[in-house]
Amino acid sequence: MNDVPRSFRGNSNAARDIAHHLHPYTNFKKHEATGPVTIVRGRGIYVMDDDGKEYIEGMAGLWSAALGFSNERLATVAYEQMKQLPFYHAFNQRSHEPAINLAEKLKSMAPVEMSKVFFANSGSEANDTVVKMVWYMNNALGRPKKKKIVSRIKGYHGITVASGSLTGLPVNHRSFDLPIANILHTSCPHYYRFHTEGETEDQFTTRCAEELEQLIIKEGGADEVAAMIAEPVMGAGGVIVPPKGYYEKIQAVCTKYDMLFVADEVINGFGRTGNVWGCQTMNIKPDILTCAKALSASFLPISAVMITDKIYQALMSESDKIGTWGHGFTYSGHPVAAAVALEAQKIYDEIDLFGHAKRMSPIFQKHLQSFADHPLVGEAMGVGMVGALEIVADKKTRAPYDLATVGAGTRVANHAQALGLFVRNMGDRVAICPPLIINETELADLFGRLHKAFDLALADMKTDGHFEG
Ligand SMILES: Cc1ncc(COP(=O)(O)O)c(C=O)c1O
Repeated sequence: MNDVPRSFRGNSNAARDIAHHLHPYTNFKKHEATGPVTIVRGRGIYVMDDDGKEYIEGMAGLWSAALGFSNERLATVAYEQMKQLPFYHAFNQRSHEPAINLAEKLKSMAPVEMSKVFFANSGSEANDTVVKMVWYMNNALGRPKKKKIVSRIKGYHGITVASGSLTGLPVNHRSFDLPIANILHTSCPHYYRFHTEGETEDQFTTRCAEELEQLIIKEGGADEVAAMIAEPVMGAGGVIVPPKGYYEKIQAVCTKYDMLFVADEVINGFGRTGNVWGCQTMNIKPDILTCAKALSASFLPISAVMITDKIYQALMSESDKIGTWGHGFTYSGHPVAAAVALEAQKIYDEIDLFGHAKRMSPIFQKHLQSFADHPLVGEAMGVGMVGALEIVADKKTRAPYDLATVGAGTRVANHAQALGLFVRNMGDRVAICPPLIINETELADLFGRLHKAFDLALADMKTDGHFEG
């Protein structure tokens, strides 16, 4: 009995989880062998498992819990809204105050003048909505062939059929029969990984823009290519901050071919990159903006799509022609989620969360850069309150370790977890994205634990003969 892990015994959470729960993003076979870490409560930047072990949530859950894992005010607002109006919808000209208030608030915060806000429940749904909006709009404008949407290799936009197609990661396509038609992928603006010998950042971004233009021309030019979608700073692809000047060049190409520019702010939005929006950090002028996650501090599921008036006018005329905009979710703008999101935004304003994040950003980035000299680290990259450390086998050639046999990133993440810190490794890039409320002392604690995790991974790799350094 004693050699059975404690959490697998009898009717434990782990045993019941393995028996009944099909997880997102999980190797099911591995899960059957090792079971889950079951989180039972949260407090500030910490979460606690059912063994009583506390972890710093160095990823804010899924890049999202800006206020951490406890907040009385949000709990109270949810309770009050549930008592007053627990559910109502927004189909067929019905509405309710929480959705109206939140739409008004989001428009007042937008990085460019926006006309309308559409609500969904997740980032994936928001981006699926964008794909349909672009198609619907171009049908309205009498351009039935202009339907192709450009995304990027390593971009992440979700996992539903259209948004999963926009996503540019093999694991989201393989065996799912994705991507669907009309979705294209252009080059990834990761200078460290993809620049050629002797190529400057400026030459690299010019090449990215040229490759985009070549793709557009090959796919039928302005007649067929309708839009480009991008996360201002890529998240799940490995926290990739494009070099200066990249978006100016990319947006010039999009304008030349009369394409809409869609900013996916699902991770970037609400202070993550040091400004309210990633668009402001990266100098982007979007026609459409999607957001989710920190919109409600992740206390409840809600996402939003903001559109300019030019787009709204086209949607309006088509909805009038057909009789309706035949798109919407039962829970579009759910009153409890909308009320909680609005309260989250009020809290952000009252505690000056975006100002706090901006003040913490240089401290965060300094900690991140302190890893640049670590024997395992090839690149330390970040902006604002998000960053990643790329592990390489050879700092000079940037050659990676073999993922399957060495699993260096996984070793770091596992050691970090044992030390009471959750980070996320995407292959050999280890990401850090803590709740924005994190303070200076907590940041030092987080990065101190991460340093130990890197040192322990290095020690293991030396023992296993993987590190020759
Ligand atoms: C940039 C971006 N867009 C879209 C999504 C999809 O959001 P969801 O998981 O809520 O569907 C994510 C999720 O991490 C994301 O990071």
